[in-house]
Amino acid sequence: MLINCQKCDSRLTIEEAATLPGRKICCPHCHYVFVANITGGENKILQSKEARVIAVCNRKGGVAKTTTVLNMGASLAVYGKRVLLVDFDMQANLSIVLGLTNREKSFYDLLHTPDSAISEVVKKTRYKNLWVLPSNSKMALLAKQNLNRKDFVYLLRDQLESLKKVVDYIIIDTPPSIEFYTLNALMAADFVIIPTQCEFLSVHGVAHIEEAIKVIKERKDKSLDYAILVTMADKNSTAGHVMYKKLLEQYADKVLATQIEHDVKMQESQIMNLIVAQYDKKSPSARQYLQLAEEIEKMLV
Ligand SMILES: Nc1ncnc2c1ncn2[C@@H]1O[C@H](COP(=O)(O)OP(=O)(O)O)[C@@H](O)[C@H]1O
Ligand SMILES: [Mg+2]
Repeated sequence: MLINCQKCDSRLTIEEAATLPGRKICCPHCHYVFVANITGGENKILQSKEARVIAVCNRKGGVAKTTTVLNMGASLAVYGKRVLLVDFDMQANLSIVLGLTNREKSFYDLLHTPDSAISEVVKKTRYKNLWVLPSNSKMALLAKQNLNRKDFVYLLRDQLESLKKVVDYIIIDTPPSIEFYTLNALMAADFVIIPTQCEFLSVHGVAHIEEAIKVIKERKDKSLDYAILVTMADKNSTAGHVMYKKLLEQYADKVLATQIEHDVKMQESQIMNLIVAQYDKKSPSARQYLQLAEEIEKMLV
């Protein structure tokens, strides 16, 4: 099948063009990404809706940021959404739980290799509708080598721009800090999910992200709403109930209705490099991440 690039008008065969999620085509000449409707022998160009970009952040480590990026993303993919996960943490935990190695290209390689296109770095996962932009150990150099740039907070936003036309959701995993990496994620995002356990230091971490969101909104006149997700909830913990009440008092309707329970199946699934729904679809956390995907879908339409 022959098609024309929507931008540079080069004549391409579907095989020659690098295909992205679904039927998205990346022109090998100008790297423009577009959607071609090739059913019924037609060659119409479709304009798809722009992706929602969600950053998953908390200054505290171990609150299930990475777990939420993967399992919420996979749940949205189950509902037929095309989802790109971005591993923007030098620890590369998201890439590791997806079974990828340090040899994969990362955002660092994309930025520091002349003429490289994001479509060459994004990898299809084993799950339908789910792609990942991996991380590797070179990501640690990204901040050092780019901090002097005036536009350093927009590096991720600018690279994701072309993919916003070809997926429904972009979900960004971040490290437990509010510096170069998380700032880039917040600048690229239009929504933030802040996972927290119902324990003192995790809830404390929520306030730091909330503060950063306020500053970004004021300075940039940017739409950036957020929601708080309770993770690893323990129904039998009195301290947990107390912290949950505090969370509701402080953040009220920003706290998502869905809570993710502490579930050993989640830990087991990660050892097997699987999403929890694949490992045990009847487990509490598998059901709750599906419910979370529904809640987010309704909230972000
Ligand atoms: N619902 C859950 N039940 C039990 N363990 C969980 C759950 N969610 C995450 N974990 C575990 O908690 C640890 C930290 O999760 P992770 O997603 O890596 O946090 P972060 O990215 O915030 O550092 C991991 O060992 C993970 O397996
Ligand atoms: Mg993590």
